[in-house]
Amino acid sequence: MIILGIETSCDDTCVGIIEASEKKKSRIKILSNLVSSQVKLHRRYGGVYPLLARREHKKNLPQILKKALREAKNSRPDLIAVTKGPGLEPCLWIGVNFAAELAEKFTSILMPVNHLEAHIYSSFIKKDFNFDEVFPAVCLIVSGGHTQLVLIGSFGRYRLLGETRDDAAGECFDKAARTLGLPYPGGPAIEREAAKIKARKRTKKRLELSFPRPMMNQKNFDFSFSGLKTAVLYDYRSRTPRVRKSKTYVRAAAREIQQAIIDVLIHKTLRAAGEFNVKSIILGGGVTANQELRRQFKKKRKKELPAVKLIMPDPAFSTDNALMTAVTAYYHWLKNKKPSVKDLKAEANLRLGK
Ligand code: KG4
Ligand code: ZN
Repeated sequence: MIILGIETSCDDTCVGIIEASEKKKSRIKILSNLVSSQVKLHRRYGGVYPLLARREHKKNLPQILKKALREAKNSRPDLIAVTKGPGLEPCLWIGVNFAAELAEKFTSILMPVNHLEAHIYSSFIKKDFNFDEVFPAVCLIVSGGHTQLVLIGSFGRYRLLGETRDDAAGECFDKAARTLGLPYPGGPAIEREAAKIKARKRTKKRLELSFPRPMMNQKNFDFSFSGLKTAVLYDYRSRTPRVRKSKTYVRAAAREIQQAIIDVLIHKTLRAAGEFNVKSIILGGGVTANQELRRQFKKKRKKELPAVKLIMPDPAFSTDNALMTAVTAYYHWLKNKKPSVKDLKAEANLRLGK
């Protein structure tokens, strides 16, 4: 069967088309994967400007769809999957309405997808895992809008263990980068600056900074990143203009911000995985594109929980894309073949699990 995914929850306009067996869970064939990034447009605002993003989605979607269908040799989609939430409401509506019209035109089944659930299954786009060997699992979803630890009993059964009480980890990267004068999105910019330190000779004198690891040692599975963001701002302000504009300072701050976030995320995820005795840890969301986070996760998991699998998305699928939307809909379709959804609505604050 052919599944077409549409994702417009934030600032990327995405269309993806996959092919897989209608009868049983099978290897997924990617026919098209298009992501039209609006990063350059939003850069001057230092973040995503929702109404501008909405306008761009409206303009881009028809063009991207045309190209995606061409790449997929114009195969008729049997299923059209669309992100219904969570996300920016004006942007979600563009995708939802577009998908509904398309489903009518092609007489395809229309299926809404939870964007957080799609981030969970982004790891399953390229690799075909046997779910019996994967679940129960703990999933860390870290994106620009969310930081959550979710316990997955089996496919479709989710229990929220904890989440951020204020800023998401990606948001913290973005805001701290802004303080340091680095471009949007902040995650990749901070990663680049932090990596420059490693390349330098060890003999050179380094500037050592120390930022907090909020809530790291608390027994719950919640997070908080606004204190870290504020600590960065205060430290920046306490420096002379000459120091804070220097490469040495920006790189040292970037490295410490990244390490503080990594420490908290890994510590809490491994603790959850150990406590709930799971078979695997799944990572998802834009922040999991971070190479240093991936490297340290692998190392610590191997040392502390050698029997637990670590499943990470291909970095290209960490950030928003529509393949993960299509794949999630595909698994739901296999589980319970429901008819097309009528009167589909966008839900900006859609949640996952209990
Ligand atoms: O999942 P995503 O594409 O969109 C949301 O659903 O929010 O995540 C975007 C977030 C941004 O905050 C961005 O700064 C962060 O992911 N991000 C990264 C990296 N690439 C993207 N954070 C750290 N390191 C990266 N390499
Ligand atoms: Zn996302």
